[in-house]
Amino acid sequence: MRLSIGSVAHGGYCVARHEGQVVFVRGTLPGEVVEATVTRAGRRNRFLFADATEILEPAAGRVPAPCPFSGPGRCGGCDWQHADLPTQRQLKAAVLAEQLQRLGGVTVPVEVAPVQGDRDGLQWRTAVRYAVTEDGRLGFRKHHSHEVEPIDRCAIATARIQDADVTTLDWTGAAEVAVTEDGDGVMMLPDPDAAEEAWLQRGAYGRTWRVPSSGFWQVHPGAADALADLVVEAIAGCRTVWDLYCGVGLFAGAAAVDDPGRRVEAVESHRPAVTAARANVADLPGVQVHRADVLRWLTSDAAGRGRPDAVILDPPRKGAGERVLSAIDAVGCRRIVYVACDPSALGRDVGLLRARGYDLDSVVALDLFPMTHHVEAVAVLSRGPAPRLD
Ligand SMILES: C[S@@+](CC[C@H](N)C(=O)[O-])C[C@H]1O[C@@H](n2cnc3c(N)ncnc32)[C@H](O)[C@@H]1O
Repeated sequence: MRLSIGSVAHGGYCVARHEGQVVFVRGTLPGEVVEATVTRAGRRNRFLFADATEILEPAAGRVPAPCPFSGPGRCGGCDWQHADLPTQRQLKAAVLAEQLQRLGGVTVPVEVAPVQGDRDGLQWRTAVRYAVTEDGRLGFRKHHSHEVEPIDRCAIATARIQDADVTTLDWTGAAEVAVTEDGDGVMMLPDPDAAEEAWLQRGAYGRTWRVPSSGFWQVHPGAADALADLVVEAIAGCRTVWDLYCGVGLFAGAAAVDDPGRRVEAVESHRPAVTAARANVADLPGVQVHRADVLRWLTSDAAGRGRPDAVILDPPRKGAGERVLSAIDAVGCRRIVYVACDPSALGRDVGLLRARGYDLDSVVALDLFPMTHHVEAVAVLSRGPAPRLD
């Protein structure tokens, strides 16, 4: 089908219409005219998904993909290889602004900024999880498919991971291979979910952080520093802070380094991450790390701890959700610093918080995942009669 491409949508698509039906098209840019092939139908056939197979009228931001494995029906890892970086960032900003408007009910200007260590959007991924083909080669799954596209080199992996030549080895017998670069070198772990815990060293905020192989750490080399700086800036003047979903303690630790008199309660449920967090903040007496489910901690253990000046929230992809936000509301916290990796979840949670009287003061968005549709945002919300602390 021939399609005139409209605005960008969440997930690496642009929207078009064909005979009245909405089509989400990959591999396009707003304003283009393309030839496209339908790849699947959406819920109850109400919309379609398609891949652009020929670009009849290209947009100004279109570039040849730097990676030879990207394109229709090929590796599904990246979404915007066909767009230059300013265009990618404009598209991500538009998606974030749209989700905040539609789900959060708030109109805010959004810009997406690069972080330190950006190399034209390539060579940034310090952790890569490869799938393995039946004949033992490494690759990535095609978009919305279990089929693996074998690859020689992933252009967004760091140079050290690309040079480690993992893709030349025979991985027969493994289902997945995790390759991670840390301060010590490159580690290869076949079937990481079944493997024994390995420990990595990461650097951020002028410190070294111990991270379990099963735990969370931002993959872009500039991400942890950029986020820690934004979070610390947003809690300026706050003496008591809760860091919920604290992982290995990055924000809790940075908050305590920034103000050694600050009291920080950090909450995390993943046992190896809690062990790492406790080790990472052992020299910072103001930080206490709790191993608990965030909701359970908020609704039981937090009772009697008073009202924190600020809550830092960095939940997994699905967001914090109604029950956690309502528990934070009940505590009466006046400032929330929300670190989000999914614009929809952030939009929905901002909507829930606004319904509870919080205002969205600012949103800063960072391009931590160039070439993909992913974007990270730090939103600061506040409520209450007290003057803001900054
Ligand atoms: C996006 S990571 C954030 C980690 C940390 N803030 C950082 O920047 O490194 C989310 C963390 O939340 C933890 N988590 C997920 N669900 C949780 C829950 N219900 N209660 C406590 N922690 C949870 C995960 O184990 C993960 O470490």
